[in-house]
Amino acid sequence: MWDKASLHELIATRMSGYQVIVVANRESYMHRSGSGGSIVCIRPASGMASALDPVMRASGGIWVGHGAGDADRSTVDEFDHVAVPPEDPSYTLRRVWLTKEQEEGYYHGLANEGLWPLCHITFTRPVFRPEHWAMYREVNALFGEAVLQEAGDRPSFVFIQDYHFGLLPRYLKERNPNLIIAQFWHIPWPNREVFRVFPWKEELLDGLLGNDLLGFHVRYHCQNFMDTIDRTLEARIDYEQAEIVRQNKTTLVRPFPISIDFERQEAMAASPEVEQEIRHWHSELGSRSQFLGIGIERIDYTKGIPERLRALDRFFEKYPEYRGRLTFFQVGVPSRGHVPQYQMIGAEIDQLVEKINWRWSTPGWRPLIYVKRHFSPVEMMALHRLANFCVVSALHDGMNLVAKEFVASRFDEDGVLLLSQFTGSALELTDALLFNPFAVDEMADAIHQALEMTPEERRRRMQRMRAAVRDNNVYRWAGKILSALVKVDAADPVGAPSGNGTAAQVGPSVSPLLAARSFPA
Ligand code: F6P
Repeated sequence: MWDKASLHELIATRMSGYQVIVVANRESYMHRSGSGGSIVCIRPASGMASALDPVMRASGGIWVGHGAGDADRSTVDEFDHVAVPPEDPSYTLRRVWLTKEQEEGYYHGLANEGLWPLCHITFTRPVFRPEHWAMYREVNALFGEAVLQEAGDRPSFVFIQDYHFGLLPRYLKERNPNLIIAQFWHIPWPNREVFRVFPWKEELLDGLLGNDLLGFHVRYHCQNFMDTIDRTLEARIDYEQAEIVRQNKTTLVRPFPISIDFERQEAMAASPEVEQEIRHWHSELGSRSQFLGIGIERIDYTKGIPERLRALDRFFEKYPEYRGRLTFFQVGVPSRGHVPQYQMIGAEIDQLVEKINWRWSTPGWRPLIYVKRHFSPVEMMALHRLANFCVVSALHDGMNLVAKEFVASRFDEDGVLLLSQFTGSALELTDALLFNPFAVDEMADAIHQALEMTPEERRRRMQRMRAAVRDNNVYRWAGKILSALVKVDAADPVGAPSGNGTAAQVGPSVSPLLAARSFPA
């Protein structure tokens, strides 16, 4: 089984001498101004950042990310570096600064108004503006320069995260062919019919083929990506080997289902801090009703929050015996509030909460509690442990780590997970109650089934889900990605510049990908 130690060993033995550079728009730790001139360090609400943080703690190295916190500048050194995590510094965060115009075009615009709805296909129309694309290119180059600076002439493995950086791999490869570059696309990849409307598809796809390895959560998204390349670019595609060759450069395309640090989540969920938080929430919520359901996510139209609220409304209509007995606690973490579609979904949720509470509330009981703010991991774990059930009703999600976190927190082997069948997690967590979030009655009935389930069945299901998340943890995810890079067939010097004869340098246990490059002494 993969754990922190085995990942550490893999890096030490198979990638020795290499520094690890992660590039992600979202930084893993953010500094914000607190009250009375203080500075607080928070962990942003990002499944990607939560998953990568333990990997970075195990591997050391550098995380290059956007310095988005209002106190970020006052906490870095002259190289824009800060050691994190604050309580146990294990790796370096290198902050990249963006102007408002760059943030608007690259992050809010191209990434979140364009690629995000395009890839999720949740019936929110993508917006493509040339000025956003120009900023996307500019910011990819800006991050590229930061990575090249950090890498210097040292052998480096660059691990890029997500759809913010479609052009970065090619940019880096052209300037430093010695870099080993992998990218993980944390969101779905749509089918080629959907993707063909993207106005700058040739350039984006060519950018992605600068990677040595490109990962998606599930096989289906790898297939969609290869089909999209097939339709759009001149390239040789080997569906059997899952690799694409363009201009003598090979890119492996592989599924790697992301996960969490199960052991750490489980241990933290049992900590005295969480116990104390449970007491707090218990006194807040405990007397209000017999059952507690929870939902925790960023306020995002892909998460299916209005659909879930409508299902709760239907549930109280269909199952009157639960009126006064069930409270649903929804955490909505504010997200991307600058983007109009996010303002609209926020307003829709507010209206639904008001309407449903108005409809069903009785003296002393409200069916919905909606809290809009950032929640710390400790607060979230307390809610996980208190809940009778947790709802994840994403309309489309590459993976969804809230589902896995809930399962890992439940060391008591109780609680029911209600999970959208359109999440990557549904392929692994088959003991959840799976439903179609677009079908209001189906979700209402799943809530009913969760509440009526016997303790024995709850335990059986939770045990199996916990075993799945324990085995397929985030160290396995990172370990598999690194192993794919180092275990390339020696006969096929992937990534080696064509005709340079460097395959001859390859030793028996050394990857051609690593060995094919000659680094300055
Ligand atoms: O996993 C997808 C993702 O976009 C991450 O890249 C990101 O950190 C997370 O969702 C939250 O979004 P944001 O960073 O835009 O707040």
